[in-house]
Amino acid sequence: MFKMANLAHKNAYVPYSGFKVGVCIRSDNDKLFFGSNVENAAYPQSQCAEASAIGSMITSGERKIKEVLIIGGNEELCTPCGGCRQRLYEFSSNHTVIYLCNSNGLLKTLKLIDLLPFSFGPGNL
Ligand code: THU
Repeated sequence: MFKMANLAHKNAYVPYSGFKVGVCIRSDNDKLFFGSNVENAAYPQSQCAEASAIGSMITSGERKIKEVLIIGGNEELCTPCGGCRQRLYEFSSNHTVIYLCNSNGLLKTLKLIDLLPFSFGPGNL
């Protein structure tokens, strides 16, 4: 997962922020999907790396996320933004694990539900 996220991190298209993010998702069937952030000259059209990886997972037919590994830029933790917490939650369980990394390795491990308490998701509808 780290190798795939690292490649996604390297290939991120970030001419505006200069902040690269690479993500690798492991589905419940142990398939791996990766994604980069893809920025745009019309800034709001930019896409987070998590959204890219989720899009790839859904396109392949997988529906449940077991683990997510995120590589951000530096020593600061690159936690998923609010929108991406919600995007990940849609396809996660209470056991879904997030590995926060930089290019040198793992910085912190936590669960998605810790990042999104009292969340609104498919079960609320
Ligand atoms: N970014 C992500 O790709 N994922 C996140 O969860 C946080 C932010 C990207 C968006 C933008 O291209 C850059 O990081 C700076 O915000």
